Amino acid sequence: MSVLLCVKANPKPVKESKSLTMAEEFLRVYREKNPLDRIIERNVYEETIPLVDADVLKGWDKLQRQEELNYVEKEKVGKINAFTEEFLAADKYVFVTPMWNLSLPPLMKAYLDTIVVAGKTFYYTEQGPVGMVKGKKAVHIHARGGFYNQPPMDQLEFADRYIRALLNFLGVTDIHSLICEGHEYLPDRAEAFLQEAVARAKELATEF
Ligand SMILES: Cc1cc2nc3c(=O)[nH]c(=O)nc-3n(C[C@H](O)[C@H](O)[C@H](O)COP(=O)(O)O)c2cc1C
Repeated sequence: MSVLLCVKANPKPVKESKSLTMAEEFLRVYREKNPLDRIIERNVYEETIPLVDADVLKGWDKLQRQEELNYVEKEKVGKINAFTEEFLAADKYVFVTPMWNLSLPPLMKAYLDTIVVAGKTFYYTEQGPVGMVKGKKAVHIHARGGFYNQPPMDQLEFADRYIRALLNFLGVTDIHSLICEGHEYLPDRAEAFLQEAVARAKELATEF
């Protein structure tokens, strides 16, 4: 039995969101194929994710010095630790995002900041950082209104590239990207683009 952790970053209802629609179909097929697996779904817009602020930095500093954290520091650092542990305990990851202003929604960045933890998910060496999250696989399900799949627009793409780079940094190298794009440039073809992306999502789910 595997544990699949699905982290979504979208405040919209599913039927209004292309990435959530793709994710729903992906998970439906995945569940059918893997009925014994545990699937954990988190939408960062329904979670309280502490930002890395003065309390968190102070709390981390105190932990290193083996000093007592105050109540607020303990609360925030404790919540961050819980997200880190949940991430580490999963075998497979599904990240679901829209492109917002060339990048990811800010709450997804807040979530990602909880899983990049020196000593738990990566460590430093003289040769550079080494990821500690090994033997896992991931898929990034993503929707964007324009086209970013070739020059010069590919240079402006900081969403899929960032997720892939960060997961790689942590040691996850088996990463798929499922992208629905261009529907706001070509609204007449929006439904066809979505259906084609959903078909790709269902196909990947059968073997993920
Ligand atoms: C705040 C905001 C910023 C956006 N920025 C971009 C952008 O930089 N590039 C782009 O191609 N589309 C952009 N879009 C369009 C979305 O990427 C597009 O609607 C996509 O389908 C959103 O995913 P969803 O359907 O899963 O919500 C933006 C939409 C919003 C609401």
